[in-house]
Amino acid sequence: MNTSNTAAIVLAAGLGSRMKSNYPKVLHTIAGRAMILQLMDSLSEINPEKIVLVIGPDMEPVSDAVTAAGYTVEVVIQKDRLGTGHAVKQAEKMLLGYHGTVLVLYGDSPMITPETMADMLAARIEPSDPAVVVLGFRPFEPAAYGRLILSHTGGLEAIIEAQDASEEELSNELCNSGVMAIDGKILFDLTAKLSNDNVKGEFYLTDIIKFAREAGRDCSVVEGDEEELIGINSRAELAVAETVMQDRLREAAMENGATLTDPSSVYFSYDTQIGQDVAIAPNVYFGPGVEICDGVDIRAFCHIEGAFIENNAIIGPFARLRPGADIGEGVHIGNFVEIKNATLAAGAKANHLTYIGDSKVGEKANIGAGTITCNYNGYAKSMTEIGAGAFIGSNTALVAPVKIGAGAITGAGSVITKNVESDALAITRAEQKIIVGYASKLRSAKVKK
Ligand code: UD1
Ligand code: MG
Repeated sequence: MNTSNTAAIVLAAGLGSRMKSNYPKVLHTIAGRAMILQLMDSLSEINPEKIVLVIGPDMEPVSDAVTAAGYTVEVVIQKDRLGTGHAVKQAEKMLLGYHGTVLVLYGDSPMITPETMADMLAARIEPSDPAVVVLGFRPFEPAAYGRLILSHTGGLEAIIEAQDASEEELSNELCNSGVMAIDGKILFDLTAKLSNDNVKGEFYLTDIIKFAREAGRDCSVVEGDEEELIGINSRAELAVAETVMQDRLREAAMENGATLTDPSSVYFSYDTQIGQDVAIAPNVYFGPGVEICDGVDIRAFCHIEGAFIENNAIIGPFARLRPGADIGEGVHIGNFVEIKNATLAAGAKANHLTYIGDSKVGEKANIGAGTITCNYNGYAKSMTEIGAGAFIGSNTALVAPVKIGAGAITGAGSVITKNVESDALAITRAEQKIIVGYASKLRSAKVKK
C-alpha cells in the first residue's frame, strides 16, 4: 500500500467504565487477542512512520501489551481525560514539525481495515488538499454519534456532537466514526483553538473541522461500513465485534480451501492457520496458536489450542488438544482424548478416552482406550516415551518418567512404573482365578430371609 508520509495517533485513554471491568477496555479480547492489538495489526499494514499511543494514568498494561506484541509506539499519558481534542493535543511534542498526514484512530474501534485507512489517506492527498478527511458512516442507530454537516456541494462544514445538536441536525444520518486523516502542517494549530464550551465540558476533536473551514481549508468525508466502525463501550458491543471478527475469519478459512459444514458454530482465533481441504464439522473451537496442515478432518465438538496438526490427521469428535500438542501426519485422535505438550509421530492412534501429557509417541504406536500418562505426582511433571509401533493395552496407567520401547506391548489394565524394553510384553495385573459354581453359591447365600 502506498501510504507513505503518515503518522498515527491512537486514542486509548478512556476509562471504559461501561465495561464494568478491572482491566483497561482496550485489553479486552476479540478472537483471542486484545482489541488494541487488532487495531495495531491493521495499522501496521499501512506502515506509518510513527505511532503515538495516548493512554491514561495507570494504563501501563496497555503500552506493555503493545510493545510485547512487537509494535513500536511512542507512549504519552493523558493525565486528565478532558476529551478527544485534549487527547490528540498530548501527542503534539512527539509530532512537532511533522508535515505528513496524521491518522487519528480510537483504540476502542479496532475493526477498521487497512484498506479503509488507505482510502482515507488517498482522500487526504486529493487536489483540493483537504485539511481533514473524516470517516463517516450511516449506523443503524445514529443516536449518540456526532453528526456530519455537509455543504450543498458535499464538502464537510462541521461536526456537531449529538448532545449539542438541534432536532434538524439529529435527523441527519451521516455520522462521525471518529477516524480522521489530518494535515500534520495544521493539526496542532487547529487543536490550539479548541475550547470546552459545550454540553459535556470537553475539548472535542470534532471542532477542528469548523476551525479548518474558518482558515479557508476544505474538509471531506469518506464513507465506511458500519461493521468496521463499531465502537466498543460495553460487553454487548464487544460481543458484536466478536461476531464481526468471527465472520471475517470463517470467510478467510473457506476462501483458503477449508470446508465448514456450519460456519456459524466454528470459532477461530485471530491467528488460526488452516490449510487446504481441511474439513471442519460443527461446534469446533480454536484457541490461539493453532496451525492445521492440508487434508485434516476435524470432527464435531473439538477444542483445540496451541496445537500443530500435520496433513491428513483425523481429530475428534470430542477431542481436546492443548498447548504443545504436535500431531503427525495421518494420526488419529478420537473421542474424549486429551493431548497436552506431546508429540505423536506419523500414523499413531489414540482413538478413545485417553490423556497423553508430556509425552513422545513414536510412529504407528497404538494407544488403547483409557490409557493415561500419569505425568504429575503433585510436585513435578515427568515425561513418557512410547516407541514406534508400541501397543499400549486398554486402561494402562503409564507412571512417568517411563519409557516403552519400540514394538513393546503393555497388557490391558497394567500400571507401568518401570521402563519396558523394545518388543517386550509388560503386564502388571493380578492373575485371574476361576472358582467353578461360586457365583450361584453366593447368590443363594444372599437370598432374602
Ligand atoms: C466520539 C466523537 C463522536 C463520534 C464518536 C464515534 C468527539 C468529541 N466525539 O464521541 O463525534 O461519533 O466518537 O465513536 O470526538 N479518549 C481519550 N481521552 C479523552 C477522551 C477520549 O483518549 O479524554 C479516547 C477514548 O479512549 C476512545 C476515544 O477517545 O478511544 C473516543 O472517546 P469517547 O469518549 O468514546 O467519544 P464519544 O463520546 O464516543
Ligand atoms: Mg465512544
